[in-house]
Amino acid sequence: MRKLCFLFLASAAQAALEFESVLLTTEHTKGFRAVEFAKGEGRLPKARCKAWPGSNDWPSDFEWRLFNATLDGALLKPTTPSIACYRGPDFNAATCSYLLNNATNNGFWIDDPVTVLTQWTQGGTCMPALNATGTCTHGGFPHFVVNATTVKHVQAAVNYARNKNIRLIIKNTGHDFGGRSVGAGSLSIWTHNLNAFELLKGYKKGSYSGTAAHFGSGLLNWQLFNEMFRNNLTIVGGGQRTIGANGGWMASGGHGHLTSLYGLAADQVLELRVVTADGRYLVADEEQNTDLFYALRGGGGSTYGVVTSVIVKTYPPVTLISSSLGIACNPPPDTNARARYAPLDSNTKFVNNTDRFWNAISIYFRFKRSIVLAGGTDWDYLYPLGNNSYSFRTRITFPNTSATAAEALLKPLYDNLLRAGFNFTLNRTELVPVPYFGTALTPSSPGSNGLQNTRYRSRLIPHDNFATDAIFNRTFAAMRSITEQGGLTLHGLSIGPSAKAAGYPGTTAAVNPALRENVLHLCYMTTQPSSFTAQQARDEEAHVNKLLKPLRDITPGAGSYMNEGDPGEPDWQWSFYGAHYRSLLRVKRRRDPWGVFWAPTTVGSEGWEVVTLDGYPRSQNGRLCRVEQ
Ligand SMILES: Cc1cc2nc3c(=O)[nH]c(=O)nc-3n(C[C@H](O)[C@H](O)[C@H](O)COP(=O)(O)OP(=O)(O)OC[C@H]3O[C@@H](n4cnc5c(N)ncnc54)[C@H](O)[C@@H]3O)c2cc1C
Ligand SMILES: *[C@@H]1O[C@H](CO)[C@@H](O)[C@H](O)[C@H]1NC(C)=O
Ligand SMILES: *[C@@H]1O[C@H](CO)[C@@H](O)[C@H](O)[C@H]1NC(C)=O
Ligand SMILES: *[C@@H]1O[C@H](CO)[C@@H](O)[C@H](O)[C@H]1NC(C)=O
Ligand SMILES: *[C@@H]1O[C@H](CO)[C@@H](O)[C@H](O)[C@H]1NC(C)=O
Ligand SMILES: *[C@@H]1O[C@H](CO)[C@@H](O)[C@H](O)[C@H]1NC(C)=O
Ligand SMILES: *[C@@H]1O[C@H](CO)[C@@H](O)[C@H](O)[C@H]1NC(C)=O
Ligand SMILES: *[C@@H]1O[C@H](CO)[C@@H](O)[C@H](O)[C@H]1NC(C)=O
Ligand SMILES: *[C@@H]1O[C@H](CO)[C@@H](O)[C@H](O)[C@H]1NC(C)=O
Ligand SMILES: *[C@@H]1O[C@H](CO)[C@@H](O)[C@H](O)[C@H]1NC(C)=O
Ligand SMILES: *[C@@H]1O[C@H](CO)[C@@H](O)[C@H](O)[C@H]1NC(C)=O
Ligand SMILES: *[C@@H]1O[C@H](CO)[C@@H](O)[C@H](O)[C@H]1NC(C)=O
Repeated sequence: MRKLCFLFLASAAQAALEFESVLLTTEHTKGFRAVEFAKGEGRLPKARCKAWPGSNDWPSDFEWRLFNATLDGALLKPTTPSIACYRGPDFNAATCSYLLNNATNNGFWIDDPVTVLTQWTQGGTCMPALNATGTCTHGGFPHFVVNATTVKHVQAAVNYARNKNIRLIIKNTGHDFGGRSVGAGSLSIWTHNLNAFELLKGYKKGSYSGTAAHFGSGLLNWQLFNEMFRNNLTIVGGGQRTIGANGGWMASGGHGHLTSLYGLAADQVLELRVVTADGRYLVADEEQNTDLFYALRGGGGSTYGVVTSVIVKTYPPVTLISSSLGIACNPPPDTNARARYAPLDSNTKFVNNTDRFWNAISIYFRFKRSIVLAGGTDWDYLYPLGNNSYSFRTRITFPNTSATAAEALLKPLYDNLLRAGFNFTLNRTELVPVPYFGTALTPSSPGSNGLQNTRYRSRLIPHDNFATDAIFNRTFAAMRSITEQGGLTLHGLSIGPSAKAAGYPGTTAAVNPALRENVLHLCYMTTQPSSFTAQQARDEEAHVNKLLKPLRDITPGAGSYMNEGDPGEPDWQWSFYGAHYRSLLRVKRRRDPWGVFWAPTTVGSEGWEVVTLDGYPRSQNGRLCRVEQ
């Protein structure tokens, strides 16, 4: 058995990336038992709560020093950079000004070991602000961070957290909207620097043969695009520069411009490497550790292990053609809203009649099914600007097609709009096929890398709701009222990662089955004010759930996309995982009987809760404890 195990690790290490050849061995663990691998049958810790800094069960400074030595000095104890904005020993006006004026545009926050973009999940305890008043506290940020650059670091961190009953979190880019990469009193594994990339020529697995790409879990989407550019090939990537090219994006599905053609990020995976809760480093594919191979492709991040790298399919270079249009209704009296009213696209119609506006929008939304059936996607925003003023803009993208074919695909939409009195002129100069990976990218992406308090609610609208005019009209009426009556901004994405698009081996992934049936991923956006009390946050959540109820009712059994969903999603087990939930729970219990990995709305997470002092719902600013039976 021992010998087999050794052979297995040796073969795993052979095809591994360089950072994966440095593993934790008994050489390291015999001197420091706190990082020993799990032995015997696993069970939940006796203590009801995870250890907490300052309490008796928290390791001593001496132990943390030994731990740091095992980690080759990779242990960090970071404060949040925003502390520079607050009066006290860390005050620094220049740093604060940099955070306010520059950090959003250059990826600064993405490179920070603790920052998460959605601040309310951390408790919003230290927002950068000009001449900040009040105090900056550490809140939900982790207590210690492992700046992992080898698999050994990841293994040592997992073992230490398990043996010492410390809350463990994994942070990659910190983009998560639900607080899944932050946690008070925790040890964090920061995967940011595991970003190696390698091409594997002549790779074969099952029915796939060709060039595959092997990359670490810290690779960012813009870095992935640069690798495509450099190597003249296509890999399925996300729609924004600084999300992980693997990480949580892939773990819960991962959509982008090629989703309706080639499926989700999770559908691309041929093989992956993972450190499980027992501290072992494993390869998972169709033949070995098949339960993990299933669960880690769509069954959620931060649940079954720390993925260190993935091997994914590559494709010949793909081109994209895109076309935009906009519709705006009633100029808003408010000057701030006016910038949004005049959409950037020149192909925009203006109307002063709300029914006419909504009629045009319904014609556009009716067309979404044709977009995904043609292998395309779209990306739109509908902003309610107050006083019956609205602004809508969309960009439709078709992969692998010619200008003539794209024009033919768009014709029914333009014809239907014309019949309703909207004489849009298709901008033919826009219809130029451009390479999917375009030109080399930098992390700068003005605006979208800033700290925010956005909450997303997602509903996946299936083909069934587009089957007849009658059901579509009722679905659309529910959508309309959420924006019209409720004032919520709508972000709609047409993505159709059908089983056909997913192909091999995607069809065996744990991806939410609702995504396979999907036409329209509807996101409703709200901003959670920093000033909210716990009661206000609870009331707001109830209010938004009430607004969304008619939409949920008209899409019975449909799901929600966790990566752009809300941690307060009702019946989240079904919404985020569908019929996979039970089998995923079995994988979770088998692979992590100790409860090492935890994040809100991950599989098995219902057994634990974050106990906040003020009862603020869904906040990670508190101690993690088991729910009392
Ligand atoms: C500006 C912006 C644009 C976005 N655009 C898109 C888009 O185009 N398409 C799309 O599908 N989604 C998009 N999203 C949503 C995105 O998929 C989620 O935010 C996702 O959680 C990001 O994963 P991450 O690894 O980058 O972030 P993180 O917040 O660091 O991690 C997210 C979750 O994954 C876990 N995790 C991370 N790495 C690992 C690992 N190696 N092993 C195990 N667990 C891990 C973390 O613990 C956490 O639970 C966007 C989000 C934002 C804020
Ligand atoms: C870990 O060790 C390194 C190298 O000695 C040191 O720079 C770092 O500050 C230590 N980390 C902590 C949290 O003490
Ligand atoms: C930060 O932004 C300000 C205002 O846009 C600019 O003047 C300044 O040069 C920037 N500083 C750095 C260090 O990039
Ligand atoms: C913020 O403080 C600076 C001095 O540090 C002062 O010059 C400035 O006027 C203050 N700004 C505001 C908005 O109070
Ligand atoms: C993390 O480790 C890498 C490699 O040693 C180092 O270059 C980087 O500066 C470290 N990051 C932080 C925030 O300490
Ligand atoms: C990129 O690959 C495509 C086909 O795979 C080929 O036609 C094209 O010439 C290549 N371009 C470059 C610059 O190598
Ligand atoms: C809508 O009304 C505004 C003034 O209320 C007017 O300036 C504008 O021209 C009108 N637009 C259309 C398309 O009728
Ligand atoms: C509606 O218009 C009035 C001015 O006519 C303005 O004061 C008010 O803020 C507007 N409401 C919204 C929600 O924009
Ligand atoms: C791309 O388009 C060509 C020509 O229409 C077609 O032969 C090919 O199958 C398409 N590729 C994919 C992946 O759909
Ligand atoms: C639509 O607009 C175009 C150009 O602006 C014009 O040539 C055409 O006649 C219009 N069609 C109708 C039906 O009004
Ligand atoms: C058409 O598209 C081109 C290329 O994107 C753009 O420069 C031009 O302004 C557009 N024209 C109209 C009338 O929308
Ligand atoms: C659906 O709505 C459209 C646009 O409002 C309308 O023309 C059509 O008659 C409706 N169809 C049904 C079956 O309700």
